[in-house]
Amino acid sequence: MTEADYQEKIPNNVDLHEDRRLQRALESWQPNFLNWWESMGPTLPTEDVYLRTAVNVGREGWAHFGHVAMRDYRWGIFLAERDRDRQIGFGQHMGEPAWQQVPGEYRAELQRLIVIQGDTEPASVEQQRNLGATAPSLYDLRNLFQVNVEEGRHLWAMVYLLHAYFGRQGREEAEELLHRNSGSAEAPRILGAFNEETPDWLSFFMFTYFTDRDGKYQLGTLKESAFDPLSRTCEFMLKEEAHHMMVGTTGVDRVVERTAQVMVENETDDVAALGVIPLPVIQKYLNFHYSVSLDLFGSETSTNVANYYTAGLKGRWLEERRRDDHKLTDDSIMVDSLTPDGEIGQTEVSALTGLNTDLRREYVADCEGGVKRWNRILADAGLPQRLRLPHSAFNRKVGAFSAIEATPEGEILNASEWEQSRGQWLPTDTDKTFVRSLMRPVHERGKIAAWIAPPRQGINGKPFDYDYVHLS
Ligand SMILES: [Fe+2]
Ligand SMILES: [Fe+2]
Repeated sequence: MTEADYQEKIPNNVDLHEDRRLQRALESWQPNFLNWWESMGPTLPTEDVYLRTAVNVGREGWAHFGHVAMRDYRWGIFLAERDRDRQIGFGQHMGEPAWQQVPGEYRAELQRLIVIQGDTEPASVEQQRNLGATAPSLYDLRNLFQVNVEEGRHLWAMVYLLHAYFGRQGREEAEELLHRNSGSAEAPRILGAFNEETPDWLSFFMFTYFTDRDGKYQLGTLKESAFDPLSRTCEFMLKEEAHHMMVGTTGVDRVVERTAQVMVENETDDVAALGVIPLPVIQKYLNFHYSVSLDLFGSETSTNVANYYTAGLKGRWLEERRRDDHKLTDDSIMVDSLTPDGEIGQTEVSALTGLNTDLRREYVADCEGGVKRWNRILADAGLPQRLRLPHSAFNRKVGAFSAIEATPEGEILNASEWEQSRGQWLPTDTDKTFVRSLMRPVHERGKIAAWIAPPRQGINGKPFDYDYVHLS
């Protein structure tokens, strides 16, 4: 395994210099990427930011921290170390050596999977581009930019695969990844949740908790792929992704903590006038981000996904820990469905077609961990209120429950009941305007906005009042 070469135009650990054609192709994509970053990336002008840059893929010391101008960030190509004996772990090719090239018969499917993953990475940068202007602290501002540059690097990771393994079509797809834009009417991003705006920091924390976490699970399935370069790319991306999860988890922690504090100090639930976000508004944001993220897992059943699995393109979350035959041809699973008379129910399908449900279940269990954490903060403050995940039928646009409307408790509503009461469960314009009204920037070192508690720890052992960002 070669260490990253930072003298090169494109830092990488894939011996890019040995493949001049590929190197030139990526070098000609690079200015387009930088143009995209300038026009669609963070809008707040900065001198430099205390950022983590990946320098190696080993267990220890894989990243370097330092103040860098964001435009000069060393986006690079990093694949986890190759295991020369790696075998395919599931599906009809189980036990065969992992593929170092794309098999002709799976070319179109693999390219599609990579494009869909690749499309989400720059989308989130676009969604978050204006948040710098309202950051609650320099610490938070730095975390936002860290997430942004790493999502940019994840785009690089997918573009590398497209360029290196998918020929002219791959290069065309790499261009398209810069042309589609989040929320654009003509050329939107591929997946719905990535066309929603992230207009405030509560949305940002909910996004990094719920939507980035979907990304973690998708990467987890691609990490199992028989196509080894994809597997190794995703393995390393997951490492970076952990920080994004941390930003979301602790971000919501700190919002809940501050709200709880003000509730207790003032002995009231009605804290909007006191400049913090009331718990019911936090719950509505949670309901929204959780439900749109559930949609990202697709329909409860999918023959495409069954085929991906059988072919070895995409596995299950933690495939190697599953105690079954890793082929699933004789197994079944219960999935969400509507009964013939339109009630919420479950139905048994073959395990292969139910794989989206399998992955979504792992995700839901993980999300419950966050809710537990936040409820512990409320309990520790001596408050009786609790946050909860809404029912899987709530506010769904994809899958069995997209045909109905339901309360967060899972009771079916007719269309007019839904219209009348949705404002109790999803952020209203009034809620959004209120949250936005709190979003005044605090760009002063060591200071923090009143609606959020400071973090327990800084970044890389630095204190909270460190000069994480120099504005220009
Ligand atoms: Fe990412
Ligand atoms: Fe991420």
